[in-house]
Amino acid sequence: MEAVIRPRRTLSLTIISLFLFISIAFSHEIRINNAERRIDLSSHIVKIFLTLKVENAGKTSASEVLLAFPPTQANQLAFLEALAATGKKKKKGYVPLVVKPTELPDAPNDTKYFSISLVNPLNSGETATLEILYVFTHSLEPFPVEISQSESQLVYYRDSALILSPYHIKQQTTFIKTPSTKVESFTRVEPTSRASNELKYGPFEDRLPYSYSPILVHFENNNPFAVVEELVREVEVSHWGNLQITEHYKLAHGGAQHRGVFSRVEYQSRPSFSGVSSFKHLLALLPPRVHSVYYRDEIGNISSSHLRTDYRKSELEIEPRYPLFGGWKATFVIGYGLPLEDFLFESSDGRRYLNFSFGCPLIETVVDKLTIKVVLPEGSKDPSAVVPFPVEQHLETKYSYLDVVGRTVVVLEKKNVVPVHNSPFQVYYTFNPIFMLAEPLMLASAFFLFFVACVAYLHIDLSIRK
Ligand SMILES: *[C@@H]1O[C@H](CO)[C@@H](O)[C@H](O)[C@H]1NC(C)=O
Ligand SMILES: *[C@@H]1O[C@H](CO)[C@@H](O)[C@H](O)[C@H]1NC(C)=O
Repeated sequence: MEAVIRPRRTLSLTIISLFLFISIAFSHEIRINNAERRIDLSSHIVKIFLTLKVENAGKTSASEVLLAFPPTQANQLAFLEALAATGKKKKKGYVPLVVKPTELPDAPNDTKYFSISLVNPLNSGETATLEILYVFTHSLEPFPVEISQSESQLVYYRDSALILSPYHIKQQTTFIKTPSTKVESFTRVEPTSRASNELKYGPFEDRLPYSYSPILVHFENNNPFAVVEELVREVEVSHWGNLQITEHYKLAHGGAQHRGVFSRVEYQSRPSFSGVSSFKHLLALLPPRVHSVYYRDEIGNISSSHLRTDYRKSELEIEPRYPLFGGWKATFVIGYGLPLEDFLFESSDGRRYLNFSFGCPLIETVVDKLTIKVVLPEGSKDPSAVVPFPVEQHLETKYSYLDVVGRTVVVLEKKNVVPVHNSPFQVYYTFNPIFMLAEPLMLASAFFLFFVACVAYLHIDLSIRK
């Protein structure tokens, strides 16, 4: 008898623990009452604004909300930010929330998750509004993959008409904005509607967790697909009052490959028909009070650039030697100087810090790999960088004229950088002002030694003549 009872007991134990597990797993029973997603496909950087009205339909309070992405989209994700709406109507404000990648056991189809931590835990029956922005790069696929100079560029965008979510969504709508009204085709899912350059999927009611409905939109997009495959920005701090910036670009046109030969005559005589997807100019937004700007490539200085400055910003319009068509590349360097007092400050603990902008100054550009090298003055100690998002960091040493111990270089690296990454970062360091005297002293002693050598030489010379 006992032998029969034991397995039964263990079975009932497992069933109880299973129930316990399920009740724990679902005790934070979040439900999404309304989801509105706006997908902006107007450039080659895909921006998605998602508004979630979440409700805690469970018994205990919940402190996090999960976002789910299919693995292909997770690989193209360059930026993700979540804000919680606070207050009503006129007093409306937003509080940034912490978002972290996370993993769930048994994630269906390799779904990738991010967890949003709520500032105030959501009690049973309470609701919250979350505003989420995320950005994808390299997610518009040119089709046809090759086009001639006279053709317009068409691309595919793939997504789901239903928002991928681990939660039940009561009502949801997706809007897709295309750059023009030229939409070749799009997947229809009842209800779908289209008005000028906007497609609307939904509203869909009561969709179960992980509902998915693939859609494909094929549309015209002739915006510059400016991709910087590699950008190295060197920011050199000189305590003599200058910040010198040197930027090395490897730029490519990331759109449909150019087919056939390039005719400059056709390009120049019919600019609205010929090479519509190519780009000729790029705009760099630089800080105000910029000086000594140059722009050069392997051949030499390129004079075709225009600089406009006002008290808020400087705009540098650069023109490569040839227009860039799909698959074409250009390598160039931009350099400029800035007044140090605009960027170097002293912190309350007496350390000095540089406050400069991360990212790439070229507008609407994706940077596949960005390296920022902050070259500190000789004699700087204990450098540390503060960047608002995860980056790889290490230190190097650089030698230039008159350097004895070399300069500390703080190297920051980040992949998949988009314009929303152009936010300030800081590099803190300590510096003993005595080092300011090092270079003048070295120069003075060098001159002195030279003088002594001259005197000695003259003496020797005289003694030989005798
Ligand atoms: C290019 O321009 C920079 C800055 O104006 C100047 O210092 C440099 O000598 C020029 N180089 C050539 C090769 O003209
Ligand atoms: C850095 O500069 C930005 C403006 O360019 C400013 O808003 C921010 O407060 C500064 N950060 C620090 C730590 O000084």
